[in-house]
Amino acid sequence: MKVDVLLGLQWGDEGKGKVVDVLTPKYDVITRFQGGPNAGHTLEFDNEKYVLHNIPSGVFHADKINVIGNGVVLDPITFKKEIDGLEARGTNLTKNLHISKKAHLILPTHRILDAASEASKGASKIGSTLKGIGPTYMDKTGRNGLRVGDILHNFEEKYAALKAKHLRLLEMYDFEYDLDAFEVGLMEGIENLRRFTLIDSEHELNRNLKEGKSILAEGAQGTLLDIDFGSYPFVTSSNTVCAGACIGMGIAPNKIGEVYGIFKAYCTRVGSGPFPTELFDADGDLMRKNGNEFGSTTGRPRRCGWLDLVALKYSVMINGVTQLIMMKGDVLSDFDTIKIATAYKMAGEETEDFPFELPEGLEPVYTELPGWKCDLTKVRSEDEFPEELNFYISFLERELGVPIKIVSVGPDREQTIIRE
Ligand code: GDP
Ligand code: IMO
Ligand code: MG
Repeated sequence: MKVDVLLGLQWGDEGKGKVVDVLTPKYDVITRFQGGPNAGHTLEFDNEKYVLHNIPSGVFHADKINVIGNGVVLDPITFKKEIDGLEARGTNLTKNLHISKKAHLILPTHRILDAASEASKGASKIGSTLKGIGPTYMDKTGRNGLRVGDILHNFEEKYAALKAKHLRLLEMYDFEYDLDAFEVGLMEGIENLRRFTLIDSEHELNRNLKEGKSILAEGAQGTLLDIDFGSYPFVTSSNTVCAGACIGMGIAPNKIGEVYGIFKAYCTRVGSGPFPTELFDADGDLMRKNGNEFGSTTGRPRRCGWLDLVALKYSVMINGVTQLIMMKGDVLSDFDTIKIATAYKMAGEETEDFPFELPEGLEPVYTELPGWKCDLTKVRSEDEFPEELNFYISFLERELGVPIKIVSVGPDREQTIIRE
């Protein structure tokens, strides 16, 4: 068996959580392989809405195993809150949620360092979710970090040593903080982690494959936020691309099967950084309103703009996408025409290649297609698609060279059309 991977192709929030939940019945195991509580993955079914941050989106199917892989950074405090919230709503995970001992721990001082670093950047801040992601991955690559497996022996001693180091680092910044407030719930969070099955996830996942079990890996963030290939430095601190799934789970590249690339029919970004097709007018406001584009983790309004094919082609290339999933077509129902950027004009020259940097003054070159001007949210089969939507889909398939296999027309599980 192979591992199928589902990845965001834009700046995150494409709808990964929804589609992982829809695809979960086909799989035995669902994994997360990078990122942490900076993610906010929304699921809706039976008139209930859930937002997951640390936990894979397969948890609402009782018979499935969900794994938090070694590439994830896990905050014991927010993890406990999330588990408590799910248990209060009737979902108990102590048996079916397994956690890699190699996943790194986000500590209270990582969150303080994140806030201090952002504050020191002033206007050039990244717009981080302030969940401590950057500092935790820095400690990982700097070989200072603490891992989930470290809670099994002398955790308090190890924590005290790393905390002392962080407090010395914080002296560099002119930043006030209340350490006690950040530390509330840490030891309860560590205790809570001990209730779960802590595993060597690379062994378990490879054993699963040998036994014929199927695995779906759920990406967090999106390709344009990847630490290597995103719009650096306005990115997150992990490899969000397909290759990151191999590292974040201990799965060899030749064990990767389908690569599902998920994108919105338009584009959003939350936080700072370049966004060539961003709209600052009534069209952008309409997308934000109709798409309810407010961050699932921070509540911040998301920046909105037209679909960017230059960026999307780049993401398809980097990830080796084999199937595309298009989300939120219903949000564009009010537009007479819909624009798609097919090239960038930079210093008078047109390019279709995603460049080293996205400089100010870069102009998207647009193609305009007719809008569908009808409500898609009740559509349940491809036969009911308006002609203009079919045209939009075939245009994208031709440009990207990959089939669009799933079209989503609303936030609910049921509002999902699988194309044959
Ligand atoms: P993720 O981070 O990729 O899982 O995406 P988020 O959950 O952060 O953001 C996607 C938002 O769009 C959520 O509020 C979803 O409920 C919602 N959503 C997902 N698919 C659709 C869709 O096809 N149409 C509409 N209108 N909303 C959708
Ligand atoms: P999901 O998984 C959208 C953005 C932040 C910021 C930058 C760095 O829900 O798609 P970080 O907290 O990682 O230091 O922030 O990345 N960002 C996201 N944007 N969706 C996400 O996750 C994101 N996770 C981080 O807004 O610009
Ligand atoms: Mg999200």
